[in-house]
Amino acid sequence: MPTRIIGLVCCLSLSVACGDKDSETGSTTVELDGSALYTSNCATCHGADGELNNAKLPEIVPGLSAEELEDVITNVAPMSDIELTAAELSAIVDYLQETWPAR
Ligand code: HEC
Repeated sequence: MPTRIIGLVCCLSLSVACGDKDSETGSTTVELDGSALYTSNCATCHGADGELNNAKLPEIVPGLSAEELEDVITNVAPMSDIELTAAELSAIVDYLQETWPAR
């Protein structure tokens, strides 16, 4: 007899990070893996080394502030289609700035 498994147990992990994104040191309350987030959300178009399309991340990222990076990723097509939480966005920006630091 079919056992009905109700698979919709929503594991709503409560997001604790509320708008605390001014930390210059990159120490945030919630640590997400920015590298893995980059790989799954960005590397398809930008490549693991950021060199894949016209937007050469190794050249662009050092010239942008964290705010500008967040703005670009949130508003510039095609990045604006990517759904990221604020914490994920900030983890990716941290990763970008660690990988390609300002000169
Ligand atoms: C669907 C393909 C695609 C994906 C996915 C994507 N990008 Fe882009 N990205 C582009 C293209 C194309 C441009 C160039 C857009 C332009 O300059 O008009 C760009 C431009 C950029 C720029 C430079 C914007 C500027 O100021 O010129 C940054 C920074 C960037 N992407 C970061 C990211 C990050 C971080 C992610 C992952 C969260 C991501 N992108 C995901 C295609 C993509």
